[in-house]
Amino acid sequence: MTILVTGATGNVGRSVITQLLEAGASVRATSRNPRSADLSVDVRAADLEKPESFGEALEDVEKVFLFPNPAGAHGFAELAKAKGVKHIVVLSSQAAAHESYGDSPVRTMHLAVEAAVERSGIDWTFLRPGGFATNTLAWAHTIKQEGLVRLPFPDANVNSIHEADIAAVAVKALLEDGHVGAAYELTGPESIPERRQVELIGAAIGREIKLVELGVAEAKAQWAAHFGDFADEKLLDSMVQMYEQATARPADLTTVVQDLLGRPARTFAEWATDHKTDFTA
Ligand SMILES: NC(=O)c1ccc[n+]([C@@H]2O[C@H](COP(=O)([O-])OP(=O)(O)OC[C@H]3O[C@@H](n4cnc5c(N)ncnc54)[C@H](OP(=O)(O)O)[C@@H]3O)[C@@H](O)[C@H]2O)c1
Repeated sequence: MTILVTGATGNVGRSVITQLLEAGASVRATSRNPRSADLSVDVRAADLEKPESFGEALEDVEKVFLFPNPAGAHGFAELAKAKGVKHIVVLSSQAAAHESYGDSPVRTMHLAVEAAVERSGIDWTFLRPGGFATNTLAWAHTIKQEGLVRLPFPDANVNSIHEADIAAVAVKALLEDGHVGAAYELTGPESIPERRQVELIGAAIGREIKLVELGVAEAKAQWAAHFGDFADEKLLDSMVQMYEQATARPADLTTVVQDLLGRPARTFAEWATDHKTDFTA
């Protein structure tokens, strides 16, 4: 049985591949740039914006770990069905689980991908993680260069999840029976404010990190620079709204990682220790 991992060069996909190989699975990966993918498996060129590019990569594939791309999801799912794929595990988002996200782009794009897979008739499992701990890698540059982090909403509460925990659940859903039709809302084990995350990164690297508070307009400009063309005014406003809500109350937590894996989800302190070279090297 061959399992195809898309988004294989990403934080989650890379860990999915590592853990599938550890479990002895037969793995194929895709990347838009296979030559620079740096993966120790068969990597094929394919682009989810052009689903037809997956023709070769999907040959003899039984299961897929799908990176969410709303533009290509329908075409991909139809092609996967035609090629005989039996099960797709979708990397979705906690936003897909909560109507409170309204019509925010983060909710609508993940729901679109889920719907495309569901419509294809292929068995599915949806992984709906909360905020990734890897989001804090965006702070690495200023931590290394200036010893500080600039934050607009330092008291915003997050439920950051370790990418290896999302991947562990994906691997379980891919290799074990009993996960078809499940939508798993995955979070880290704790609700903590971003200012605490800054402290925990400081503790991991043995260096005090200064926190500089940004105004909302400065924050929008920073996000716009980070997200590029993707960041229209609607997305930026929805991000402000999400941060305001996150400041007003604790982050939503689930025990799904522990329930499925039989051990606690990794804490942010563990993540920071695992990633300390990202903030120093
Ligand atoms: N950050 C969060 O807090 C959060 C929370 C919930 C859900 N999510 C979801 O998780 C995703 C990020 O996952 P990640 O951190 O593992 O990824 P990542 O590290 O940001 O890497 C992006 C991956 O997406 C692949 N990719 C991008 N565009 C593609 C395309 N057109 N066709 C095929 N592959 C494409 C890239 O592959 P190549 O460059 O090799 O082609 C790469 O492997 C988000 O986009 C979001 O949908 C994120």
